[in-house]
Amino acid sequence: MTTRTCLTIVLAAGEGTRLRSSRPKVLHEVAGRTLLGHVLTAVKAAQNTVISVVLGPEHDVVSAETSRVAPEASVFIQTERRGTAHAVLAARSAIEKGADDVLVIFGDTPLIQPQTLQRLRTALADGAAVAVLGFRPADPTGYGRLVTQGDDLLAIVEHADATEAERAIGLCNGGLMGLDGKTALSILERIGNANRKGEFYLTDAVKIARDMERKAVALEVTEDEVSGINTKAQLAATEATMQQRLRQAALEAGVTLVSPDTVHFSADTKLGRDVTIEPFVVFGPGVTVEDGATIRSFSHLQGAQVGKGAIVGPFARLRPGAKLEENVHIGNFVEVKEALIEAGAKANHLAYIGDARVGAGANVGAGTITCNYDGAAKHRTDIGKGAFIGSNSSLVAPVKIGDGAYIGSGSVITADVPADALAIGRGRQTLKEGWAKRLRDIKGLIAKKA
Ligand code: UD1
Ligand code: MG
Repeated sequence: MTTRTCLTIVLAAGEGTRLRSSRPKVLHEVAGRTLLGHVLTAVKAAQNTVISVVLGPEHDVVSAETSRVAPEASVFIQTERRGTAHAVLAARSAIEKGADDVLVIFGDTPLIQPQTLQRLRTALADGAAVAVLGFRPADPTGYGRLVTQGDDLLAIVEHADATEAERAIGLCNGGLMGLDGKTALSILERIGNANRKGEFYLTDAVKIARDMERKAVALEVTEDEVSGINTKAQLAATEATMQQRLRQAALEAGVTLVSPDTVHFSADTKLGRDVTIEPFVVFGPGVTVEDGATIRSFSHLQGAQVGKGAIVGPFARLRPGAKLEENVHIGNFVEVKEALIEAGAKANHLAYIGDARVGAGANVGAGTITCNYDGAAKHRTDIGKGAFIGSNSSLVAPVKIGDGAYIGSGSVITADVPADALAIGRGRQTLKEGWAKRLRDIKGLIAKKA
């Protein structure tokens, strides 16, 4: 438990063109959460931290995402892209407020973990003026190289400025940095731009700290913690790593994944104890599955809550606002949207339940449709407790079916049905005795003549 205060500056001025997308880079998603969202979530996990996000000049949408994920964060704009140190100084007024630790992290490194940020802070608490994260990529081309002597970090040399000997160094700069709050500003202010790119390099902080006779250290981490995303291929690879982490966490929490590699999670998927997930299930954002529920194969869930002991699927679709109470059964080819399905209710085959309530213990027959949309507005369907909706019924909303009522199969229900009544809304069956035989006889005669 640290009592040290921390300012975390997230750099997200971003370039993004290599993703070949009109969307800013940090708004691309991994496990249903934006890259920036992942970074801010990791940052928020730390104690006593205030957050500043540095954005480029035209990034209203990034700003909106920042306030959605971290409403407490301050946003600063770097109007000209003149290097990482220049970007950090865009948040100068936040630095001037004085925090014990200053962390600088990049908005495109979604796999960074809170414990890694804590390692940087621990190094600062132990007396370092600058702490950086080092990693050993298979191909170090393009990265800053960490020049070390024993435990001491002497300098970071950017690839473009490195000598042949320096380029042979395998330990690279992950980009994320911790700065002692007491000296952060004076170090940042001394950084110049006398280098190949003419940029203000944050990495020069190391050499300056050493010139001030302060300590700089490098902490080694695995490549995925610090790998930034510049291409769609890297985005996909990051997704794969994130999914591995989420599956592992689910298994460790006691969830049964019959075939882990085939289940796709969102970063915010919440799973209770003794939940079973069958192969090939996709969780979009905002899903909670409570204890003992089973999600069967090929189901797609998003923004949904699944109660204790419920069974969903196979081939079910739960859309935002689907709330299933205890022991509900939602079977194959059933879609539920913005609907409360009360305890023990069942819709086992081929149905659409949208903008509705289905009362406890009700049975919704195969092929039932809540006709919620009239082309202009959405309307609600209310199905009472223990009601029985016969197969292939259309419930034209707004409409109420009372507790314990019955709906005859194939009905189109356009008016409310009182409790315990039977409603039948379909053409009455007519019977013509012998009609089929007569038809066959006539056809036979015609065939003979031909
Ligand atoms: C940086 C590091 C390098 C490290 C690498 C790791 C510096 C000088 N170099 O290089 O040592 O190995 O990351 O990936 O820090 N940014 C701004 N404004 C700017 C410039 C950058 O906000 O004016 C942001 C970018 O959006 C990005 C981050 O800072 O999130 C890093 O910038 P980038 O240009 O990717 O630096 P690299 O050349 O990759
Ligand atoms: Mg980069």
